[in-house]
Amino acid sequence: MWYGGDYNPEQWPEAVWAEDVALMRRAGVNLVSVGVFAWARLEPEEGRYAFDWLDRVLELLADGGIRVALATPTASPPPWFGLAYPDALTVNRDGVRLTHGSRDTYCLSAPAYRAACVRIARELARRYAGHPALALWHVHNEYGTACYCDHAAAAFRAWLRARYGDLDRLNEAWSTAFWSQHYSAWEQVLPPRATQYLPNPAHLLDFRRFLSAELLAAFGEQKAVLRQATPDVPVTTNFAFGGWVPVDQWQWSREVDLVAIDDYPSESGGGAEEQTAFAADLARSWAGGRPWLLMESAPNIIYTVDLPNGPHPPSRRMHTKEPGRMLRHSLSHVARGSRGAMFFQWRAPRGGAEQWHAAMVPHAGPDSRVFREVCELGGLLARLGEAGVADSRVVAEVAVVWDPQAWWALQGSHTPHADMDYLAAVRDAHRVLWRRGVAVDFVHPEAGLSAYRMVVVPRLYLVSDRAAANLASYVENGGHLVVTYFSGIVDAACRVRLGGYPGAFRDLLGIRVEEFYPLPAGETVDLSTGDVGRMWCERVHLTGAEAVARYAGGVLDGLPAITRHRHGAGAAWYVSTELADEAYARVLDEAYARVRGAPEPPPTGVELVRRTGQDATWLFALNHTDQPRQVAATGVDLVSGEQVTGAVRLAPGGAAVIRTGAAAPPHT
Ligand code: GLA
Repeated sequence: MWYGGDYNPEQWPEAVWAEDVALMRRAGVNLVSVGVFAWARLEPEEGRYAFDWLDRVLELLADGGIRVALATPTASPPPWFGLAYPDALTVNRDGVRLTHGSRDTYCLSAPAYRAACVRIARELARRYAGHPALALWHVHNEYGTACYCDHAAAAFRAWLRARYGDLDRLNEAWSTAFWSQHYSAWEQVLPPRATQYLPNPAHLLDFRRFLSAELLAAFGEQKAVLRQATPDVPVTTNFAFGGWVPVDQWQWSREVDLVAIDDYPSESGGGAEEQTAFAADLARSWAGGRPWLLMESAPNIIYTVDLPNGPHPPSRRMHTKEPGRMLRHSLSHVARGSRGAMFFQWRAPRGGAEQWHAAMVPHAGPDSRVFREVCELGGLLARLGEAGVADSRVVAEVAVVWDPQAWWALQGSHTPHADMDYLAAVRDAHRVLWRRGVAVDFVHPEAGLSAYRMVVVPRLYLVSDRAAANLASYVENGGHLVVTYFSGIVDAACRVRLGGYPGAFRDLLGIRVEEFYPLPAGETVDLSTGDVGRMWCERVHLTGAEAVARYAGGVLDGLPAITRHRHGAGAAWYVSTELADEAYARVLDEAYARVRGAPEPPPTGVELVRRTGQDATWLFALNHTDQPRQVAATGVDLVSGEQVTGAVRLAPGGAAVIRTGAAAPPHT
């Protein structure tokens, strides 16, 4: 189990370093990410390297038994770089060239930037190959920066040429007959810079795809020089998550030796726990079920508080995590496969843009609640590590389809309802299953699905022909599929699939949707079940499916709202409106009950995750409420060290990790 965080000794006088290492040892820290933003200190002038200070840091850490995820500092080029290579600074959509002063100000396609990255990576690899502290390479930080400059334009065109071969195919794919956008020479094709009115969705989508590939190529160049110098040291980069991130994690996960994510829930209420579980399940799925690593999270105060029912505009305050919450969030990640818990950051800085960001050693110093909780978590992770948790796996029988390209397509399109967010739909499905205690994997729509008894497809707006065939064959072979509205609408080039919606799934679902009825905020439509739909409803015709629920009243009175279609050996459900969680849960319960029996939800507010190892199972029980809770379990609780027989009592906000199976390890 790795435990630690981003360590920025370059921000502190050397006198602090020895105290850092002593405190790290006290807290049980065994891995720190070093050098993430240290480029200016490592290469103070172009070609002049200053590694002596880093030598001393790594030596101190090695002497303290602390390993290092050594970063290449390429997310923050120093001021000299921008002055020497102004053409390598970011140009935004509006054509404004940005200046140095923050971080991530570069164009990933600029030759000077790419060359500078490879040079500093090579120097670091040369210097520290074989160093006893070196455990992992941490390349760059949160790849995701987009640029719209001429270098980006040239690289975009090269990528498009490789994808389409000739301009005719590009024109066809981008529907450029619309609004006279037909291209007659490659030079006319630009990144989607600011334009007068609605941009072309296919253009936007391909630019996102290009960025994902371009950023991955830049990562690959650094990885290659690191690999050459240190063939045995794994290489990773930390994935950021958010609507702005142009990274297809399915593709990237194949290129990293260890999937690593940063996780910053944006909500302060119970949504933070749901977001945590969501991020962790995504990471495990990207990693193909293998261990992954939570590379960053916040030990305390969290940045954004954006409550759906809160004040408008949302208040900009930060939220201080309640006692015990950091430990539960960390355990939620470990329960779902993380090889430990890492934070941003080790010591809270005095100055700089993130001076108010949480840290393991807060401004108050080690005599603080936060540091005491940091020490407690370190002790617990060490016990979990000794007891062999890392070798166990989460087994999920339900999968939710996740495709960042469908997200990008929906983001770029002027859809009939502006509130239709892809991420929200996927999170809804995950949340409902999470509350039912059902373990969930995420899957790419073209991936093998036979391991799952049920697959949920939330708002998969864009579906490739291959994905459509894959999902159909899953059902033909006995799978149970639940598809929600506005799925299967466009093809891989964002073109509507004609003949009735959802074009990709009509046969599979045994329905044909003739038209949509987007609803205004606050308006609902009644269903025959007594539930209501909101935001959206559709004129659905049955072409083989049966109606499970119908619209009641209004223009759609009596028409199907939720359907079920036997297809081959399986069944495919369709939900044509936006359901509240309880109603959505009933649909999923019913579909699930047919394949697995009714789910047994955990006590309200308790998160239960089971990990299965060769000779033991582990039950992670996290009580996210302020009331005591009880959970059935027998074994040794690694949190309290006590033997549990029949049931474990969870204190308010408390946690237990119960090991059952082979002889329990000694508790230290
Ligand atoms: C990201 C970055 C860190 C830091 C945190 C703040 O995850 O990687 O450098 O900026 O966000 O939450």
